Amino acid sequence: MVNNPIRVTSLAGEFIRSVVKPGDIAVDATAGTGQDTLMLAECTGSIGTVYAFDIQEDALEKIQEKLKIKGMESWVSLIRQGHQNMKEVLESKGVKSNTVKAIVFNLGYLPGGDHSVVTSSATTLKALEDALKLLAPQGMITVCLYPGHSVGQQEAEDVLTWCEALEKPFVAHHFRTLNRKSPPTLVIIQRMR
Ligand SMILES: C[S@@+](CC[C@H](N)C(=O)[O-])C[C@H]1O[C@@H](n2cnc3c(N)ncnc32)[C@H](O)[C@@H]1O
Repeated sequence: MVNNPIRVTSLAGEFIRSVVKPGDIAVDATAGTGQDTLMLAECTGSIGTVYAFDIQEDALEKIQEKLKIKGMESWVSLIRQGHQNMKEVLESKGVKSNTVKAIVFNLGYLPGGDHSVVTSSATTLKALEDALKLLAPQGMITVCLYPGHSVGQQEAEDVLTWCEALEKPFVAHHFRTLNRKSPPTLVIIQRMR
């Protein structure tokens, strides 16, 4: 980390590792290449559960292979559904409100994938509303924002405006590199009680 600029995804991971412990329930809202899914699975261990959402079947198939190699299949559930349906999908699997320790969003499109498959404001804000209801006391939501492209810029503005209106017990933070044009930024939402 010291010889390269700090990446928002790495920074999010540092916070998440400090919060998610063995036995916890965690959600990857944008599974993509599975990097965050695997990180969450390491944190929860086999006595916890990870639910990972993505709308791209081929992305989920590749993650399934990675899970198999690491022997993590039994505690990670891959869900081909939009994260805007997160609450009803998780409830159908027995996950109750106020029980999820961390929910990770890495917005935008999959690098090296189909750039037309991209997250956007309406579905992201619905997913964040669901995430607040699912989040456990002392839990955390991380959101990596990519305002460098037009859809991402609007989405980032909308997410930040939504965060500014959050009330107790939530606290919202925004981490941003100062001397780059439209850098990726990180939002962290804590639930205090
Ligand atoms: C920036 S990538 C995520 C990168 C991923 N966290 C990783 O570690 O590789 C964004 C992902 O969100 C997915 N996506 C787009 N819209 C979505 C939605 N409504 N619900 C769930 N996933 C969505 C895309 O298919 C893409 O894989």
